Amino acid sequence: MNVLVTGGLGFIGSHTVIALHQAGYTPVIIDNLSNSSEAVLTQLSKITGHSFEFYRGCIGDDALMQQILTDHNIEGVFHFAALKAVGESTEQPLAYYRNNVSNTVAMLETMAKCGVERIVFSSSATVYGDPQYLPLDEKHPISSTNPYGWTKVMVERVLQDYCAANEKMLAIALRYFNPVGAHPSGELGESPKGIPNNLMPYIAQTAVGIREYLNIFGDDYDTHDGTGVRDYIHVQDLVSGHVAAFDVHVKDSGFHAYNLGTGQGYSVLDMVKAFSSSAQTEIAYKICPRRDGDVASNYADASKARQILNWHAKHDLKSMTDDTWRWQTNYPKGLE
Ligand code: NAD
Ligand code: UD1
Repeated sequence: MNVLVTGGLGFIGSHTVIALHQAGYTPVIIDNLSNSSEAVLTQLSKITGHSFEFYRGCIGDDALMQQILTDHNIEGVFHFAALKAVGESTEQPLAYYRNNVSNTVAMLETMAKCGVERIVFSSSATVYGDPQYLPLDEKHPISSTNPYGWTKVMVERVLQDYCAANEKMLAIALRYFNPVGAHPSGELGESPKGIPNNLMPYIAQTAVGIREYLNIFGDDYDTHDGTGVRDYIHVQDLVSGHVAAFDVHVKDSGFHAYNLGTGQGYSVLDMVKAFSSSAQTEIAYKICPRRDGDVASNYADASKARQILNWHAKHDLKSMTDDTWRWQTNYPKGLE
């Protein structure tokens, strides 16, 4: 089956392209390269021995998308393309609503014209807003604390309403917890442009000497060591969750939401310690004030995905830090 991967040269999309190929699908990629590099295509070929069809362009470009969907007989869309920086979304909300919401609506209209009735959407645990209870299950109330998060809430709403109005439409929203790690080959990983916002790439850049020290945002939370606790999930587990969800629901319709997390929380200091052990080096850090918008703890109840998709995360913390370190040492500045 031919499928389109939007944002397929980005961090999670590129790993999913490999998994889809290995599962027997034929993925075609569209990416506007706003947060990725065409060099990822070479890495994908290196890892799989296969060259993938790639279109440089925007998912909101109706003519281009019609051409791709019809020329390649696309039967499903894995939709990763989005802007994803929380802080930037507060400064430039319109750019986020246009790219993440308006362009997704435009893409759904093009899909409707071409008879494509399946979508897997990259949602986020950010749709749970400030946790009212832990672990977070899919029934937790939906909310957000920033424009990026609201774009995920809005697209989920659009997908639910669209499925309700179109009995053949299938939409699967996968709510990721904290994706980390890299491809075990060391040839593909996350290469954020500029200063990383997220913990794992920041630690990796500190370990390799690009950053002097890690700022730890608060050590006075109500957690086992005072630093924030999150549910880190290896990108390879995340992508196997996409394949499992699509395989299970491919003949279904309606809206389905799943948490993709491990259910296990680790603190910032746990992550520093695990990374130090993988990199065999001390990671310098300073304790700083709390970051606005952060909560003490956040982790998943992933039992719905286990029961219905027969999926669970298999990679432990050591493989998350080992794989990130291998990628970071191979490509300290990312792919250029
Ligand atoms: P990423 O930035 O590495 O990948 C997104 C890709 O989409 C980039 O290659 C970018 O160039 C492309 N893109 C953006 N807008 C586009 C457009 N209009 N048309 C075509 N291409 C476009 O991000 P990622 O970490 O791989 O995240 C993938 C998805 O998962 C995003 O939707 C993100 O919001 C979601 N998500 C990510 C995380 C995370 O921590 N990485 C957590 C939860 C959810
Ligand atoms: C952040 C976003 C979330 C988004 C997710 C994935 C915020 C408030 N939340 O989640 O919406 O879905 O990224 O992109 O931005 N930390 C440090 N020092 C650092 C970086 C992080 O101590 O330099 C700490 C944080 O305080 C937190 C933990 O590390 O306790 C994880 O942070 P991060 O990787 O940014 O993820 P989240 O905040 O969980």
